[in-house]
Amino acid sequence: MRGRWIAKAVAQKAISFLPDPQRANHFFQDRVTRGTTLTPAMLEQSVGWAVLHLSAFDRCGGRRHGATAVELGPGWYPVVPLCLFLAGFDRVDMVDLEDLGRSELAVQAIDGLLAAADDGGLAELGELQPGRLERLGRARSTVVHRGHVAGLEELGLLVRPMDARQLELPAPPDLICSNTVLEHIRPEVLEGILARFGELAAPGTVMSHLVDHADHYAYVDDTIDVHHFLRYSDRVWRLIDNDVQPMNRLRASEYLELYRRAGVPVDEEHRRGDDPLRLVGIPLADRFRNMDPADVACVASHLVTRFDRPAT
Ligand SMILES: C[S@@+](CC[C@H](N)C(=O)[O-])C[C@H]1O[C@@H](n2cnc3c(N)ncnc32)[C@H](O)[C@@H]1O
Repeated sequence: MRGRWIAKAVAQKAISFLPDPQRANHFFQDRVTRGTTLTPAMLEQSVGWAVLHLSAFDRCGGRRHGATAVELGPGWYPVVPLCLFLAGFDRVDMVDLEDLGRSELAVQAIDGLLAAADDGGLAELGELQPGRLERLGRARSTVVHRGHVAGLEELGLLVRPMDARQLELPAPPDLICSNTVLEHIRPEVLEGILARFGELAAPGTVMSHLVDHADHYAYVDDTIDVHHFLRYSDRVWRLIDNDVQPMNRLRASEYLELYRRAGVPVDEEHRRGDDPLRLVGIPLADRFRNMDPADVACVASHLVTRFDRPAT
């Protein structure tokens, strides 16, 4: 439907002024757009994200068995932390400003993963830790009877509603990861989060962030392109943008600069969709017109850090 993105932007802007915007957004998605069902495609995408994090972890020499992780901004469905659990992680701190989870969402994630395990849909995760699928099945009943926080905790998945800049951990994590989160955080806050992760890390800690640089409104409105939002000046974008699901519009190299300012190295940067020809015909705002076109065009990146190894 033409103009669908405008309807969504207006609705999110209105919701951002309500007393509990995240809950209101959930209600809106649930009742109005029927958007809180974990579809097979969403599950597959999330498992794919876990595969990318685990591959980066393996490449950097991480040991899965008994490892610990932090996931920044897990959102509604704990698919990635559950995959880490299945792969052998013993503890995952799920850090989000608010706990957006609910029992029925966790049950969908668990059921989806159990079905995928039967169908061979988890093969790319690599070898699963023996006994973990059975524990996942048992935790489902805890989720149903005692809620998602208790059920996930049974698996070592800890719901930590807080600002990641204030995160404290009993020991340095082996892995820090996020999926489609960094693009929703204001640059000055993101710099603080990266710096905090740098403080929490120890030699050997791996950090893996998947960043979606696309205009997310293009996912609900096929009349606009993934670069659509780059036509607006910062001033106009501030009026369109909202606090429920803000988009910072940072381009790929601007994340590298943020990492640099936070004192965190980037060991691998994998970019996707950076063909400058895709920008032809788009009236870019000055800020983007003056940047490297390949950088502006890039729609996704995967940033991997391996904090310095301990001396051997
Ligand atoms: C788009 S959502 C995450 C989506 C989720 N990863 C997924 O795959 O469905 C971004 C999340 O980042 C969280 N967030 C933003 N700033 C944060 C901060 N300073 N500390 C912790 N979480 C934060 C928000 O609360 C929000 O839930």
